[in-house]
Amino acid sequence: MKTDARQGKFTIRPGSQLHGTLTVPGDKSISHRAVMLAAIAQGASNIRNWLAAGDTEATLGAMRDLGAQIEVHDESTLTIAGGPLRPSPEPLNLMNAGTGIRLLAGIMVGQPFSSVLDGSEQLRRRPMKRITEPLTQMGADIQSTDGCCPLTIRTAPLKGTRYDMPVASGQVKSAVLLAGLFADSPTTVTQPGPARDHTERMLRAMGVKIDQEDQEDQAGNCLTLHPNGRLDPLDITVPGDPSSAAFPLVAGLLVPGSQLTIAGVDLNPTRIGLLDVLAEMGADFVISNRSTQAGEPVGDIQVKSSALSGVEIGGETVVRMIDEFPILMVAATQAEGETIVRDARELRVKETDRIAVMAAELRKLGAVIEEREDGFRIVGPQSLTGGRVDGHDDHRIAMSLTIAGLLAAEGAIVTDAACAGDSFPGFAETLMNCGAMLLPE
Ligand code: S3P
Repeated sequence: MKTDARQGKFTIRPGSQLHGTLTVPGDKSISHRAVMLAAIAQGASNIRNWLAAGDTEATLGAMRDLGAQIEVHDESTLTIAGGPLRPSPEPLNLMNAGTGIRLLAGIMVGQPFSSVLDGSEQLRRRPMKRITEPLTQMGADIQSTDGCCPLTIRTAPLKGTRYDMPVASGQVKSAVLLAGLFADSPTTVTQPGPARDHTERMLRAMGVKIDQEDQEDQAGNCLTLHPNGRLDPLDITVPGDPSSAAFPLVAGLLVPGSQLTIAGVDLNPTRIGLLDVLAEMGADFVISNRSTQAGEPVGDIQVKSSALSGVEIGGETVVRMIDEFPILMVAATQAEGETIVRDARELRVKETDRIAVMAAELRKLGAVIEEREDGFRIVGPQSLTGGRVDGHDDHRIAMSLTIAGLLAAEGAIVTDAACAGDSFPGFAETLMNCGAMLLPE
């Protein structure tokens, strides 16, 4: 039974080696997209290994409120009938899901009815101008609440446009492309770097023509979507989430005497900046069993505990590992020498300000972290002492601190840890099955 989604506290003891083969749940980005796209496709879609977690369940609930016929066979196997959506009598509640609200806004601006998109107090603090601006440029009638949600959308005709994204963002790119499905002419988006491309891959598999050209010296960073008024249904098995794999991966590297295999992980190049960075830091891992699943490259990652050295990260690598900086911070405390991260200001507007929150919480475990406006500097190796830290209702913070607890001399207690279930249900059990001494309560 997956208990940690309902538990608020993890007690972690150090000193255990991690061994074995594990899998991680289905990819969160693909799971959000699969439910939304299947719901507006023409025909029945089958989705296997779907991520049944806090964030994606919020998207599923919103699509149900919009009239989508969704059959859940077991919690991760779905059949979605597909067809026109209908108005929801209540505001759509995307809870903590930033991807859920931003992508769904792209679909809702194209509907022949009004809608209100809202979420948790945490989601209400996150910036929405990044999507309302380009969608308004396309003709959408979308009003935010002081730049945040609730978002109120009224029906309006959409025209194709060209939008040059100021910051590389998979969510912004996707919102614009999804709105482009409902526009009267092609929509072009340019990105300053390679943001995750699952939306393009899935839309192409559903019969939508998307051209990709080079943008100045950036290969393939100019996309043009040609709306054709229909989407073929999906039939996919969602690969394992590389952002979830990052936690056991880094644990396997840092906990002495460990050896782990993480099977069936999505290895999309737009998602695996962390693997490139860890390789540069001297991590001992190999990738085997490469194949293609759901139009994505996948493989198994075998990792052994390794002596790491510090690294400098900036530029386009940042967007390819944007969700992995909390766990990278933990790795940096154990690496020999200086780790410096630049160009990562986006971390300040995730579920929490991940630079400030990770720095503050790791300090409670005895770490020394230099916080910078657009990143951080950490000089290691550092010995972590231990203590009580808080997950701040941010899944990636809670899970990163849990891994830090495995390394701390006196272990750690992570409070407000239930949020791990927003992206990785069974996180605690997965680690425990590999030998971690961890008590979820
Ligand atoms: C996501 C894109 C990223 C990422 C988020 C998921 C997506 O956000 O941080 O967890 O599924 O498109 P940004 O697009 O805001 O960088």
